[in-house]
Parts: sequence; structure tokens; C-alpha cells
Amino acid sequence: MQRLGMWLCFLALISSSAVQALTPKIPPPQAGVATAHPAATAAAKQVLAQGGNAFDAAIAATAALAVVEPYGSGIGGGGFWLLHRAKDGHEVMLDGREVAPQAAHRDMYLDDKGEVIPNASMNGALAAGIPGVPAALEHLATDYGNLPLKTSLAPAIALARDGFPVDTHYQKYMGWRMEPVRESSSARAIFLHDDDIPAEGYVLKQTDLAKTLELIASKGKAGFYEGEVAEKLVAGVKANGGIWSLADLRDYQVKERKPVYTQYKGMKITAAALPSSGGLVMAEILNILSGYDLAKLSDVQRVHLLTEAMRRAYRDRAEYMGDSDFVDVPGDKLTDSHYAAGLRASISPLRATLSSELKPTFEAKTELQREKGANTSHFSIIDSEGNRVAATLSINYPFGSGFVPEGTGVLLNNEMDDFSIRPGTPNAYGLVGAAANAIEPGKRMLSSMTPTFLETDERIAMIGTPGGSRIITMVLLGSLAFEADESAQSIVNLPRFHHQYLPDQIQFEPDAVPSEVQDMLRELGHGIDQKDSAWGNMQIVIRDKRTGKVDAASDKRGIGSAWVGH
Ligand code: DON
Repeated sequence: MQRLGMWLCFLALISSSAVQALTPKIPPPQAGVATAHPAATAAAKQVLAQGGNAFDAAIAATAALAVVEPYGSGIGGGGFWLLHRAKDGHEVMLDGREVAPQAAHRDMYLDDKGEVIPNASMNGALAAGIPGVPAALEHLATDYGNLPLKTSLAPAIALARDGFPVDTHYQKYMGWRMEPVRESSSARAIFLHDDDIPAEGYVLKQTDLAKTLELIASKGKAGFYEGEVAEKLVAGVKANGGIWSLADLRDYQVKERKPVYTQYKGMKITAAALPSSGGLVMAEILNILSGYDLAKLSDVQRVHLLTEAMRRAYRDRAEYMGDSDFVDVPGDKLTDSHYAAGLRASISPLRATLSSELKPTFEAKTELQREKGANTSHFSIIDSEGNRVAATLSINYPFGSGFVPEGTGVLLNNEMDDFSIRPGTPNAYGLVGAAANAIEPGKRMLSSMTPTFLETDERIAMIGTPGGSRIITMVLLGSLAFEADESAQSIVNLPRFHHQYLPDQIQFEPDAVPSEVQDMLRELGHGIDQKDSAWGNMQIVIRDKRTGKVDAASDKRGIGSAWVGH
């Protein structure tokens, strides 16, 4: 009997180890980060290692980018953080967009004759909206994070205090924006060296910014919107032709918005809501495209149909979209499948529609557009629990307004230019708009920033990019590639093309399509604009839902970096 007992024990041991040996070990899910700068990726990684979740890592990345990419984003700017909380599936777009100051008015950038005052919405203190980033940092920490701001802001504070080496991107963007930066004595002292573009490798320290970040770390948003910093911001703005008040700063509120959801074939898209036009424009384009089998089309037909869908959605952007807290935007109609079917029926496979045939209610003017490069910044993060963040942040143009209020280290945005400063007058990205996006006190200017989640049966992704008006079509092309099962690196490196209704031309990156394809598109009646430089700086993180493995990539066009690990 005793022997039998021993045998049974022995067999049980063998079989349990045999089962263990046969069951494939599923490792714990991986985390992943992709940002536009290695120092921001390192900051997010550091905070994850300290027990932070994806939301803490997002705070670290946002603040680090504010220091090392002063040309792209910053605490003097705004952004949208698309969030997914794993434990309850809660999903929200945190809206930290800038708002127009209370003293702002519809015609503030026009002269007595109603003409646009050159550069008034672009350079200097008058071009700046009230920043949203500091309030968003506090909101992320208190409502979603695990760690105090002191911990998640520590990497950015160190980068500001100890400095970072200037790189060629910094030099290129500063080359474009020397003029307004030289106008501001503080900006000049911080961002230039001997009154010129700093050499590559020059260690750029931002002592005042480090102090302002420390105040936010200890006092939360009050460290920025009230007290010493707020007073210096308002004094500096007012002394330099701006119109901010202490009340504008004190009253700034972030908003939680319901994202825009779209289904395209087997893919669910969760994208930025108004005041970003991104989600609605993407939804409209994808709804039109869902009537075609893109994989079966020739290159010419594919570009033609995508262009026609883009043209129609960007027309509706110009006509209808603005801050939904101020204007009634017919979002339900624009994302309705019957509306898309009507638009699809108006597309001929044999002929381009002229944008002039899709009449807007305003008169479109054709001033020169000033589009440039890949400033603004996007990052994507997933932690091992499955919390996700896709965030796109901006101070608008490279180095924003170029203006820093004395003693703050805060480079202010020039996001006011994203309003329609006069009906039909193109903004810096050639985008036209109408009454829906006219300036009003306290209103948020319409954006194209499109942080997005994608999901199929197999994979989930967090994706986004800078690039002004082209952001939406970049995220669109990336989403279609994700649906076609492409890898992270191939999605961010995809060649790009773009149409935005006006100007009525398909814009191509160098080598995006062969010249024969361009010729055939011309024969269909399309205007072609072959650009001589690339655009965008896409960051993507993809997780395989079954294995938990992460595939992350940073755009080859930028200097960013992706990290995957535990
Ligand atoms: O919110 C927007 O749509 C713009 N301010 C974004 C600017 C941008 O992406 C600049 N990059 N080229």
C-alpha cells in the first residue's frame, strides 16, 4: 500500500512536469514606447521602470519633448492625449488645446481695410493662445497616473537644467525661425548662441524652464497658471503687444472628450475628436473608401479614389468644423454611411472632380501657403498592463511664436494661426476655413492633430504624426497599411501623398509614385505637386493581442527612437 502511494506520487510529479513542458510558456505582455526624440523615449522608459503606468510615462515624454524639441511642442503649447485604461476599458481624448484669450476677437489679425496684417498671427506674443499642456500634465497625474508629478517630471527637469546637445533638426528649424526668435530677448538668449544657430553638439541649457517645471512638479498646474510664473507670463506678453490676462490663465480648463469611433472593414478606429478635425475627416474618408476594394485597384485608381475621398472630407472640414463648444458641427451627418454613399456616388473613376465644383459657402483666397516640415510631435505608449496613450502635441510652427516671456523659459505657441483669421484665407498649412473656425474669446482653434488607436482581431496600434494639414492623410495611409497587416517600421516609412481640397493638387513626397502614375493622374484631370522634401514624423506602437509582443517604430524621416521591453 505504501509502495502504491509512492508510485502514485511519482506519476503525479512526472505528469505535472510533462504538462508544464508541453504547454507553451506565454511571456507577460511587453510594453512599448515610440517618440520623436531618444531623450523622451528614455524618460518614458525610466518612469515605467519606477512603477509608472503608460499615463505617467506620457507625462515624462510630454515634458521631455518640451525641453529637447523646443521647435515642436512645449509647456507653452497644447495637445491631445488619447487614453485607454486597461482595467475598465475607459477611453477618452484629453483635450489640452490652447484657447483664445478673452480679449481676442474675430478680426484681430486684420487691418482697418480688412486685409491680413502680415505675420501677426504667426510671430510674437499676439500669436499665442493660452497654453494647455501644464493643465494636462496635472490631469494625467491625478486622474490616471500612479506616480507624483515630482517623479514623472524629474527626467525633463534634469534635461532642462543640465542641457541637451543641439542636433541638425534643431539647426534646420532654427534656420527658418531666426527672425522672430531674434525679436524676443529671452528667446534669443536661450535658443541662440552668440546670436546665431548653435553648433551641433552645443549643450543647450534652459535654467528658467527647469525652474518652471519644478514649480509644476511641486504645485501642479497652479505652478504655471497662478502665482509668480503666471504674473511673468502675462507681464511679458502684455509688454510685447499681446493680450493675455491673469484670468485667462487661471480659468484654463482641460476637457475630456469622447473620441470619434469608425469601423473600416475589420478595423476599429478610435481617433481625435473636435477641436481636432482628425477623427471626423478620417471617418469621412474611410466611410467613402469602404465601398471599394482598394487591394484590387491599380496604383492610379487607388491614388485617384483616395484623393477624391480626401478632397470631399477636407471640403467639409473647411465648411463645417470648429470648436464644438461654440458651434454646431454636424458630426453625425458627416460620419453617416449614407452621407458617405452619396459622396461616393459623386466620384467618377474616369475623371478628377475639380475642387471648384464642390462649392464652399465662402470665397476661397489663394495666398501663398508657408507649410514646413515636421515640427509638432507625436508619441505612442503601451504599458505591460495594456494602458495606452497616443498623444500629439504642438506649439504650431517651428519654435512657435518665437517669443519667451522674461524669466519663465516658456516658449509660446503661435496656435492662433490655426483659426480662420479671415473666411477663405489659408493658414500656414494652406487650410481654409469659415465662420465655424472664426476667432472668439475662450474658443479652441481647429486642429488637424490625430492621435489614433487602431484595432483588428489580431493587433492593436497607437499611431500619430506631426505635419500640419497633412497629419490626417498620413494617419489615414498608415491605418490602411495597418489593416493590410504591415509591420510597424514599414507603416511609418510609407511614401506619402496628400490632397486637402485647396489648393487643388495632389502633393507627393519625393519617390512616392513613379512619374508614369503621375502622368496618368494628370490625364484624369488632377493637378500634381511633386514636393522636393518629405513630411511627417510618425511614431507607432503595435501589440499582438494573442502573444502580447510589441512591435514599435519611429519614422525614418526623424531622429526619434522606439523601445520595447518589460
Ligand atoms: O493643430 C494643428 O493642426 C497644427 N497646429 C499642427 C502643426 C503641425 O503639425 C506642424 N507640423 N508641420
